[in-house]
Amino acid sequence: MKTSLLTIRDLSIALVDSPQRVIIDHVSLAVPQGAVVGIVGGSGSGKTTLGLSVLGLVPPAMRVSSGEIIFEGQNVLRLSAREHGAVRGRRIGMIFQEPMSAFDPVFTIGSQIAETIFAHERLTRDELGRRVLGLLDRVGVQGAERVARSYPHELSGGLRQRAMIAQAIACGPSLLIADEPTSSLDVTLQAHMMELFRQLKKDMGLSIILISHDLGMVSRLADEVAIMCEGKIVEQGAAQDIMIKPNHTYAQKLVEAGGL
Ligand SMILES: Nc1ncnc2c1ncn2[C@@H]1O[C@H](COP(=O)(O)OP(=O)(O)OP(=O)(O)O)[C@@H](O)[C@H]1O
Ligand SMILES: [Mg+2]
Repeated sequence: MKTSLLTIRDLSIALVDSPQRVIIDHVSLAVPQGAVVGIVGGSGSGKTTLGLSVLGLVPPAMRVSSGEIIFEGQNVLRLSAREHGAVRGRRIGMIFQEPMSAFDPVFTIGSQIAETIFAHERLTRDELGRRVLGLLDRVGVQGAERVARSYPHELSGGLRQRAMIAQAIACGPSLLIADEPTSSLDVTLQAHMMELFRQLKKDMGLSIILISHDLGMVSRLADEVAIMCEGKIVEQGAAQDIMIKPNHTYAQKLVEAGGL
């Protein structure tokens, strides 16, 4: 059996001001090394909150009320701000749900990817430049130099998404969290993105948490899927099994909802 890179055990998160409002409800989840785990659920089910908590970015309005998140042997919920900084971006890369919030509109794509690298590795300007172009190449960007010199608004949605992935993997993380990475893209680009994730998994041995409301899309890539509903994982298992024989009513609805 593969060892787990990430183990979430009995995690509960509630609102600070009204602790009876539970956002994440006793969630346990393991992400094996090199595996793709899908988290699928409707809007407001807690997917983004769960993803952010792995980065130690529990929103200020929320508080962890139970559980632990063990990543590479450390409980990320107990790390200091400084220790978190070392894990976030370097060992765990994240593609955030809001595509426009990922890049600052006033800096070029290349300088922003370079800055992410520089936060963790003291490279020279030339080395940074080469690394950025190599990353853009790796995520399938054609004309990497032009894209690196572009501002975020000058790029198409597909290119911006690839640039975001380049930034997320810039420091060679072992885990990538991708929150709705394809929801702003058309069907063809969605397929290209999924292919890119498949390659990154294969080439870099990357583990991926793929967050989406689209079970059909996720099950094309995920080894395992966890179905979330109102902060709980209501079903969990091999993607194919859930597609063929969903047990929970909510999972049945997701399968019936199509997009398959
Ligand atoms: N900063 C916040 N303060 C208070 N409540 C919040 C905050 N962020 C999220 N919530 C609430 O937490 C719940 C889970 O939200 P979350 O964003 O994790 O869901 P999601 O599954 O990612 O939804 P979506 O599919 O729409 O992205 C929702 O009920 C949401 O209203
Ligand atoms: Mg979300």
